[in-house]
Amino acid sequence: MNALIRDAGYRCWLRYEQIRDEKLLEEYRTWCASVVFRPGTPVLCSAKEELIGAIKSLLAVEVALSASPNRDKFIMVGKIGSHSVIDCETGGIEAERLGSQGFVVKTVKKPEYQFILIAAGSDQGILYGVFHFLRLLQMQREIGNLNIHEAPVNPLRMIDHWDNLDGTVERGYAGKSIFYEQNHLRDTGHRIRDYARLLASLGINAVVINNVNVHREETGLIRGRLSMVVKMAGIFRNYGMKVFLSINFAAPIELGDFATADPLDGEVKEWWRKQVQEIYRRIPDFGGFLVKADSEHRPGPFTYHRNHAEGANMLAEVLKPFGGLLIWRCFVYNCTQDWRDQTTDRAKAAYDNFQPLDDLFQENVILQIKNGPMDFQVREPVSPLFGGMERTNQMIELQITQEYTGQQRHLCYLVPQWKEILDFDTYARGEGSTVKKIVSGGLFQRKNAGFAGVANIGDDPNWTGHDLAQANLYGFGRLAWNPDLTAAELAEEWIRMSFSNDQTVIDAISSMLHTSWQIYESYTAPLGIGWMVNPNYHYGPNVDGYEYSRWGTYHRADSKGIGIDRTVKSGTGFAGQYQAKNALMYESSASCPEELLLFFHHVPYFQRLKSGETVIQHIYNTHFDGVEKVTELKEKWLQLQNLIGDERFARVLARLDEQLEHAKEWRDVINSYFYRKTGIPDELGRKIF
Ligand code: GCU
Repeated sequence: MNALIRDAGYRCWLRYEQIRDEKLLEEYRTWCASVVFRPGTPVLCSAKEELIGAIKSLLAVEVALSASPNRDKFIMVGKIGSHSVIDCETGGIEAERLGSQGFVVKTVKKPEYQFILIAAGSDQGILYGVFHFLRLLQMQREIGNLNIHEAPVNPLRMIDHWDNLDGTVERGYAGKSIFYEQNHLRDTGHRIRDYARLLASLGINAVVINNVNVHREETGLIRGRLSMVVKMAGIFRNYGMKVFLSINFAAPIELGDFATADPLDGEVKEWWRKQVQEIYRRIPDFGGFLVKADSEHRPGPFTYHRNHAEGANMLAEVLKPFGGLLIWRCFVYNCTQDWRDQTTDRAKAAYDNFQPLDDLFQENVILQIKNGPMDFQVREPVSPLFGGMERTNQMIELQITQEYTGQQRHLCYLVPQWKEILDFDTYARGEGSTVKKIVSGGLFQRKNAGFAGVANIGDDPNWTGHDLAQANLYGFGRLAWNPDLTAAELAEEWIRMSFSNDQTVIDAISSMLHTSWQIYESYTAPLGIGWMVNPNYHYGPNVDGYEYSRWGTYHRADSKGIGIDRTVKSGTGFAGQYQAKNALMYESSASCPEELLLFFHHVPYFQRLKSGETVIQHIYNTHFDGVEKVTELKEKWLQLQNLIGDERFARVLARLDEQLEHAKEWRDVINSYFYRKTGIPDELGRKIF
């Protein structure tokens, strides 16, 4: 075992620690020591290897692998249609119900023999079924009466890497890229494979392997460096994942072939067709392209006076014959807007740009929309584009990497935030038109839809820097499979598999995870005001620090009040981008949810909240309170000293110590700023620096 694999955090939720409970061990051994499985394809080989390796490790038993049953209890794995025993148990209808990626895990009891069946209509489904079964073993569940049918809710379940070829990772907080180093693929075939296993165990089926900000080097991935993509595609393919590339819209210019990248220029389109043809010749199952265009200085169709639909459709048309997808991001805004102009608002930009184009995009285009209208803040309303475009494919983009939520130095379990977003009712088709129904494609009957998450991993031995940040990757993947899973269920699954089935451990870590998002919010971002961070790094408190703050649109605090008036009546009009019921709710400060009050309204510091506190006192209180709560997080963790391994215990403790110090800094910087600005003292007479 090399040093990396020995690290307690390396195996994440695929630890397969030997089960200690003798009775359970015996019970599991009787079922699992014999496996009937005939793997014929690379994906099935991956499934077989995982199953056998995991059983050996969990149960300390030799596994007899055979092509047909030879014991009275066994596991049987196979495709529907491949074996009469399987077909007899799954029946004709199931293949349809399971779709192309679902599975059945079922205990079958016959007089002659009993077995656990893992079956699916596809290799991918079998792989997911195997991982599901292993999850049950790891969580020490009863397996004598299983009857599970699962199919993913979202067609596309994608991880976006912001990795650069030089080995850096944009907004990466866990070391360098596991893929690249000095413009080459790193010699980490086994690490990329282990990463693919982790993702496949969650049901991820697509990976974008380079940064959305495509620099000169990465532009060459479509030509010149294509062999790197071929290799990566090979590794991910074995685990049921398609590889996508982020592309530079101006690649025809960057690669020196043309002086234009005009999407309506026939030669430009022809150029793309040739690149795409070559990519598919070498990677027949290539997923497609992801594009950030006309945003933050990235090139796009605007240069040629073309709109986003014209830009996206040209690329979609050349991908279409190969079954490729074109994913076009909606993260666009003009960063230099002037605060004196009360109607220009960054929050409005995505909707203003894209909503008028509804119906104009090709069928294989998907708009990738960040969860909020701004940029992955600790608190934002849901983007009004969800529910605002009924005739366009949409997918949600979430940020697993904690850019504005503590950069994996602070604990911030993001699943509760994502759940709120997914459960938000847009009212696009009346009550119940939730975001999760839109991005699954269900509400508007669209087959190209889904989830994308910006990766939070790097080459740190434990992948995510903070060991507990693994819960965010886990939670993202599982939610992408089934957005109805609860934050509590996901935390419990993750803790049981990654740490222990001991109830004390489960309770302590669950409670830490569940409170962490609100704790982080309390000492950083009051009432929906974000952005009070140092420029560029986006870490650490700095009320006016954010790089575009000088244009004054981020909190609008003066000596009398704070917040941005985004109402239709007197502000930027952003509230009006929602469907009527939500627009009304946000328009009035009385009905606006309090946690978003300052996102939508400019209010006096003396305005009273529902709690009876004034806004300014709320700011002071939450910042003091947040620090207290971090102390409690640390106390919870200290209770686990002898219940989890030393290495991870010490590592997390060090991060919590850092979080505590840093929370104090946040408290002092924010409170003293508002004290200086307003001259209003803390009612409780605490010292404000
Ligand atoms: C954020 C982030 C950038 C990133 C951008 C994007 O603004 O700070 O690093 O490029 O999002 O999503 O494109």
